[in-house]
Parts: sequence; C-alpha cells; structure tokens
Amino acid sequence: MVREIDELREAAIGAINTASDLKSLEELRVLYAGRRSRLREILSGIGQLSAEERPVVGQAAGKAQREIDSALDKRQLALQDLAEQADALDVTLPGRRGHRGRKHPLTAMTDELVDVLRSMGFAVADGPEVDDEFHNFDALNTPADHPARDEHDTFYLDDGHLLRTHTSTVQIRVMENQPPPVRVISQGRCYRKETVDATHHMVFHQIEGLYVDEGVSLAELKGTLTTLGRQVMGDQTEIRFRPHFFPFTEPSVEFDFSCSICSGDGHAGGGRCRVCKGTGWIEIGGAGMVDPNVFRSVGYDAEKYTGFAFGFGIERVAMIRYGIDDIRLFFESDLRFTRQFGG
Ligand code: DAH
Repeated sequence: MVREIDELREAAIGAINTASDLKSLEELRVLYAGRRSRLREILSGIGQLSAEERPVVGQAAGKAQREIDSALDKRQLALQDLAEQADALDVTLPGRRGHRGRKHPLTAMTDELVDVLRSMGFAVADGPEVDDEFHNFDALNTPADHPARDEHDTFYLDDGHLLRTHTSTVQIRVMENQPPPVRVISQGRCYRKETVDATHHMVFHQIEGLYVDEGVSLAELKGTLTTLGRQVMGDQTEIRFRPHFFPFTEPSVEFDFSCSICSGDGHAGGGRCRVCKGTGWIEIGGAGMVDPNVFRSVGYDAEKYTGFAFGFGIERVAMIRYGIDDIRLFFESDLRFTRQFGG
C-alpha cells in the first residue's frame, strides 16, 4: 500500500505542476485531495490496518497529503499571477505614449550659451547664490558707499549674507582659488529687489565670463562676444560697444547685438521693429577690462596680468531668441508655455 501511495503522490504532483489553467487545477484538487479521493480513502481506513502497517502507511499517506496540498497551493499562485498578467496586457488597446520631458527654455538657452563658450576654451565654474558683501561688492571694487549697492537693491539676510545680485561673485571666488591664467564662465540665478513686470523679475539668471592672462586685450573681448553672438543669434550678428561704467572693469562697456529680428535695419513687417524699437540694436550686457583693484583684492599681480570680463542676463537673450514677451512666463511653471520650447 505504501507503494500505491508513493505512486499516487508522484502522479498527483506531476499533474499539478503541469496544470495549464485554474480550472484544470481545480479538477486535480478534487481528484487528489477531495473528500472522495483515493488518498482520503486510505487515510480514513488506517484505523482498520494492522498495528505494524498502521504507522508506515500513516506516515506515507500524511507525507503525500502535505506534498500534494503544497503543490496545489504553489501552482494556484503561479497560475493566478499568469492570469493577472494576461488581464493586464490587452493587446487590442491603443499603445500608451511614453512621457518625454524636455528642457525648460531657460535651461535650453543656458546650455547653448555654455556650449559655445566651452568650445572657445572656457571652463565652467560655480559659486553660491547666498554670498557675502565681500564677494558681491568689496572685492569687485565697489566701496560701501557706492551707489551701485543701492541700485542693485540687494536682498540682505539677517546674518550679513546676501542673495547675490550678479554672477560676478564667481570671478572673485575663482581667482581666490587659482593663479592665472584663468578662463572661466559661470551661470546661475541672481536676485534683486525689482518690481516685477514684463521685463524685470526678482529672480533671474546671468552668465558671466572671465579671461585673465598676460596680454589679454579688449580686442579679444570683442572677438569672443562676436563669436558668441553669431553662434546664438545668427551669422550676420554684429556687436557694438558703448562706453559705460562698472566698478570692476576699466574701461567698461555695455554691448549690444545687432537685432536678429529685423536684421538690424529697425524695420520688421513694414513697421518699426518691436524688439529693437527701431534702433537696429539690442542691449545685451556689460563687459570690460578687469579693474586692477579687483586683481589686487584677490592677490593677482596687476602689473603683469590683464583680463576681460562680461556678464549678461540669460532671460533677455532667451526672450529675443524665442520671441517671448513677458519674463514672468519663465517662472510660472505653466506647461502650456514650457512645452513649446526645448529639445
Ligand atoms: N555684473 C554686471 C551686472 O550685473 C554685469 C557685468 C558687467 C559683468 C561688466 C561683468 C562685467 O563681468 O565685466 O550688471
């Protein structure tokens, strides 16, 4: 009888493990583990067996019952999983389109500017947005009573720190940490207490460049900015320098790109160009030759080295480039806006 039980067990487990669906598994459960199964019959007859046979048969039958039950449970779970997967995959439904993110227009613009400047040999440097007066003003040759400190309308923190008003802070941080030659750019967020309107925001982004070595000239600054302008705004772009004042450069200039919307003639679509207001030029940013006082504040030899620096707002360039007429749109996180740009 033990042999019969063993054979029964093997046959049962073999059939259970290859059952192809829940319905046939249920039939096997009835056949091998049901109330009328042979195994039940054997188990309920154990009492009538002889004293020698009883433990041997009892043990074999008990083992068979446990193994069959566990095989049934396991197979059931496996078949249920399969059934669920099959339910989940309805091949007749239309496919689900994967969601592809894209760059925010400011990120796209920044990446483009950084790429062009990197290709000209500038390395990328970073600096903190919460900085101190030394890096934001003093080291940049801006004395405590200088009107620029008011003009900037700085956000001061209680502990004497401030939110940087420009990325020029990074010039100082880089020069403090490395000797010349230096050729870096830095981009990032800046803050000023502006009244927010279509062209001003309290939070904005700048990109800054600094090149220091022996014999660096204003001509190289012009060449660098011309290349940048042509790569970003179009091949025909011209650059114009206007005299200006910045505490950290001498001489200082403001630079304009020729208007890429009206090709510089001030007229677009029959009327006056909306972007350059008919002037043919678009104001971009500030630049100049690094003031010797700035070199002294970071311990550079102001007799030996010269350098140029420039800085400008990224929003402004992006607005012209993408035809955006309100700076606030950049910061509203409205997907209907941001989805129109970037790759
Ligand atoms: N930091 C200036 C600003 O925020 C821009 C600027 C002007 C940066 C001249 C420079 C520079 O590096 O040389 O208005």
